Amino acid sequence: MKIRIPVYRPTIEEEELRAARSVLESRWLGMGALVEEFEKQTAAVIGARHVIAVSNCTAALWMTLQALGVKAGDEVIVPSMTYVSTPQAVLAVGAKPVFCEVREQDLLMDPEDVARRITFKTAAVIAVHYGGRICDMSALRRALGGKKIWILEDAAHAFGSRCTEGYAGTLADAGCLSFDPIKNITCGEGGAIVTGDDALAARLRRMRNVGVDTDTWRRLSTERPWYYEVSETGLRNVMADMNASIGLAQLPKLERFRQRRLEIVRQYDEAFRELLGIQTLDHEIEGVFPHNYVVRAGGGRRDRMIRELAQRGIGTGVHFIPCHMQPLFAAPGVRLPVTERLYEEIVSLPLASDLTQEEAAEVIAAVREFANGGN
Ligand SMILES: Cc1ncc(COP(=O)(O)O)c(C=O)c1O
Repeated sequence: MKIRIPVYRPTIEEEELRAARSVLESRWLGMGALVEEFEKQTAAVIGARHVIAVSNCTAALWMTLQALGVKAGDEVIVPSMTYVSTPQAVLAVGAKPVFCEVREQDLLMDPEDVARRITFKTAAVIAVHYGGRICDMSALRRALGGKKIWILEDAAHAFGSRCTEGYAGTLADAGCLSFDPIKNITCGEGGAIVTGDDALAARLRRMRNVGVDTDTWRRLSTERPWYYEVSETGLRNVMADMNASIGLAQLPKLERFRQRRLEIVRQYDEAFRELLGIQTLDHEIEGVFPHNYVVRAGGGRRDRMIRELAQRGIGTGVHFIPCHMQPLFAAPGVRLPVTERLYEEIVSLPLASDLTQEEAAEVIAAVREFANGGN
């Protein structure tokens, strides 16, 4: 059966098509004025001092760890319930990911478990704002007990989410955002690093562009546009104007997208709350930009639910396969019972900023039918 309602899809409208076309017509496709404008507007939306646009959030995480000096011999605490990008970034700087538990009710990093896993080698903690919900940052800070440990936000799911302290990405030493095709807004592909630290920002700007001091676009208006200096280690992780143009068309729609997703989340919550054998998350949605919608189907019924929905053309996902269960990261003796139990039960249902009422109703009907179909 063909999937008609995918679990994720980007919302692409006339503005995005026009923006991309005009970049192609301009013949300046690479990093230039539009990337700068995208950084400026993104910073204004979330109240950040610096936003450095990069190729994707995986690169953003790796570059930030590297720029903060996290290195071989260090440990970095990350939840196992995340996409592999988070621990891969840790491996990329030669450090060791130490996996921690998430809270059963909302799949967010468990600060008490973080506290248990701190050693003298802990150099950083990466707070993953799963599903757009923001980790309890004050509990996390308390868990670190005043030790010099960097806190990074993996805000790949949480662009546009806010709490009383501010927007996701601005709540720690640095935050990493994703604008890949299925994120809250998209650039096609893209990511960004958010920081309040001037020196760190300057370093990251060089790092994203093979260590070159000034980028090609900026050099165009100098006397010697061909001249550059290299003063930093770095790979090529720039965002291109082609991608920034799509992001610039999406940014003004952020609140509309958020409101539509909240509407769907409320409808799903309402419809599924009383269903036998289906458990909704106990999520706080105030201020949240919901990235995904997860329910739990316990008693070994999760895979059947996925199959039955697929038979009706409805796409689902499992976010995520715990990283500590992947061959690359598996370590003898590492057990995370809450995460492992959640993994058996979680299903992500379709959520998109342009999901129609008819589509949402189809999803609800299919989940109801599955739940009423017995055990
Ligand atoms: C929690 C989390 N962190 C990081 C990433 C990486 O983002 P990107 O695709 O922009 O590299 C993802 C991507 O899905 C993610 O889910």
